[in-house]
Amino acid sequence: MSANKGLNLTLKVWRQKSQKEKGQMETYQVSDISPDSSFLEMMDILNEQLIEEGKEPVAFDHDCREGICGSCSMYINGEAHGPGREITTCQLHMREFKNGDTIYIEPWRAKAFPVIKDLVVDRSAFDRIMAAGGFISVNTSGNTQDANAIPIEKANADKAFDAATCIGCGACVASCKNASAMLFVSAKVSQFALLPQGRVEAKERVRNMVKVMDEEGFGNCSNTGACEVECPKGISIENIARMNREYLNATLKGE
Ligand code: FES
Repeated sequence: MSANKGLNLTLKVWRQKSQKEKGQMETYQVSDISPDSSFLEMMDILNEQLIEEGKEPVAFDHDCREGICGSCSMYINGEAHGPGREITTCQLHMREFKNGDTIYIEPWRAKAFPVIKDLVVDRSAFDRIMAAGGFISVNTSGNTQDANAIPIEKANADKAFDAATCIGCGACVASCKNASAMLFVSAKVSQFALLPQGRVEAKERVRNMVKVMDEEGFGNCSNTGACEVECPKGISIENIARMNREYLNATLKGE
């Protein structure tokens, strides 16, 4: 059993019944929270308490609880996924907080991510950007191609892999003062653009993804770098520069 003492905390939580209704911060107290518990476990305890009191539990998104699905979007004390670097909210532990702390918990704030209820936002704009990216050309007729048949430079393979670790959580948008989705979109563009398999439709892909990104109401990038700092997967803003090059190449020369 842990020798750590439990934490007594004040929680200021955004409550909003639906997309149409106005929300407000509500104050709750939780006590004897183990520093070893995760942030979501602490939210579970709060919800059990609220249910016992006959109140509506706080709606929040979660699925894997191990930093993979990207659904646990919470803005904690003014930071996407709270204190700590390269972690999601579900990987945040209560030992990051002190006894007596007040914790502010809000949903992602962005026009393109409307609040559905409490801390749950609609991130389907990301799905539509992904869908606009389309497919890659792979010939699947005949024998299966050997995985090593297409030589790929190690540096490019590593960069493509790093870009592909983006889990689409939306922390980049939430932490950007312009609510820009450039880090997300550039990671998705880069993971294909860096590989020969993704070059065939590269121009069309970047044009379509940027078009949908703009239509969905995300802001412009002004290079503050906040997205990179708050990204739970450490996606580099180098990807934004690559996407800009890809986009210029695809639009100036056209095809
Ligand atoms: S619940 Fe899946 S990343 Fe947090």
